[in-house]
Amino acid sequence: MRTPRFLQLRRDDQAAVRAELLRGLTAPAATTSPKYLYDALGSRLFEAITELPEYDLTRNEAAIFAARAEAMSARVPGGATWIDLGAGNCCKAARLFPRFAPRRYVAVDIAVDFLQSALETLQRQHPELEIVGLGLDFSTRLELPAGAVDADGARVLFYPGSSIGNFTPAEAQVFLRSVHAACGTAAGSGLLIGVDLVRDAAALEAAYDDALGVTAAFNRNLLLHVNRLAGTDFAVRDWSHVAVFNAARSRIEMHLQARRDLTVRWAGGERAFAAGERIHTENSCKWTLPDFEALLTQAGFARGESWTDDARRFAVVWAPAAAAPR
Ligand code: AVJ
Repeated sequence: MRTPRFLQLRRDDQAAVRAELLRGLTAPAATTSPKYLYDALGSRLFEAITELPEYDLTRNEAAIFAARAEAMSARVPGGATWIDLGAGNCCKAARLFPRFAPRRYVAVDIAVDFLQSALETLQRQHPELEIVGLGLDFSTRLELPAGAVDADGARVLFYPGSSIGNFTPAEAQVFLRSVHAACGTAAGSGLLIGVDLVRDAAALEAAYDDALGVTAAFNRNLLLHVNRLAGTDFAVRDWSHVAVFNAARSRIEMHLQARRDLTVRWAGGERAFAAGERIHTENSCKWTLPDFEALLTQAGFARGESWTDDARRFAVVWAPAAAAPR
């Protein structure tokens, strides 16, 4: 049996992470990057979210992959190097292995420990597959180290789950350009991406504020992660989960809202929050399919094909890196 190869790239040093977090927390409108939602517990809570009755994204996407696999395999090359962006537990990609038979699987995620154990399990199930784990924060820029991918052979960049929604449209544009570059020059390469579509605000808000409170726990857990990373003294009990649909910007916003006047302290600084004041922790942008296809074109992709579920709540898009020769 092979063993997964592991590469850790430019892990930001602790001081840089701390500085970035404190910059966001001391800004007039406090913010944190959604990447801080994913410590080990946060990754598990997100897995639980995907099983909630209100959170239908994951099921809608899975239904598309199940129903349209035939049509997808006419487009997406078999035997490619699969590069899974934000691989998490790797289940989504693994379910597609029988059909697309990748020759190498490169799993990229910022939550390295979670990824490592997922890849060990995956290797046991696929003893012959070449597996590479990449511990990398690709949220600002995606660069693949030479050791992770071959120079030749088609690449399938896999970005499911509507994680693209964490970017504003302008950020998504920049990010997708770097994904386009990462496709390389081999014929047949492209991006297979999932995106949640705009729909009823009430249904969207319920998906991000479920009755069991799992999403609230996911959001509030960020404070425990930040305490460890930045040495802050956030008390989880002082903060409420807020999820609102911002129709003007077509996005769900998650915030943490102070339940009383309070002060957060750390070595060398502090920040006062008034009751009701918020920390903006995540954007989850919702797209229309035509706007999303236009975004892909602007990022350099050729026209491909899109598949949706019957209710058009979610879309899976194949975007070839280059137009097929005719
Ligand atoms: C993993 C970014 C796709 O935005 O729906 C789920 C994260 N946040 N519930 C999303 C999330 C709150 C999720 N993404």
